[in-house]
Amino acid sequence: MNDPSDDRRHLLKTLTVGGAVLLLPGSVHAQTGSTPAAVKIVPLSGLDKAFSTAEFMFDGTAALLVRLSAPPPDRARALEVKVGGTSVFLTAFTRVCTHLGCTPALPDARTHQMVCPCHGSTYSADGTVVKGPAQRSLSLISMEVRGSDVYAVALAPST
Ligand code: FES
Repeated sequence: MNDPSDDRRHLLKTLTVGGAVLLLPGSVHAQTGSTPAAVKIVPLSGLDKAFSTAEFMFDGTAALLVRLSAPPPDRARALEVKVGGTSVFLTAFTRVCTHLGCTPALPDARTHQMVCPCHGSTYSADGTVVKGPAQRSLSLISMEVRGSDVYAVALAPST
């Protein structure tokens, strides 16, 4: 039997282009079969410190970009970008709780965790589930850096 995380790793390929590591999930819209249009999220200059966030909509779904303070344990959950010779780690995910679909709160200013108001599922700043009842992490959105801006380009399967 296939381990879903293995499938995801096969789908998430990394490619270095212009100093940015891109996640290429090859994911398409689950209902229409089409690939969502890329969406400009934020200029890189707008993510000037760890835990900077940017809310955006992608494929009709509320989403969040977070600049992490360090690479996440699952490196597939981050886009590494070189800014002035320094590695910066960005992650983006849908704000749809994987339990029953409520919208988790924005990251807490102190803990950087996101708590779902419906049943208390808790996610770390990289969208990884740390407390149930949700069993899966928030669904990743793959990004690219185009010029000086960060774009959302594809939905990745949730894990
Ligand atoms: Fe989020 Fe139930 S919908 S914890």
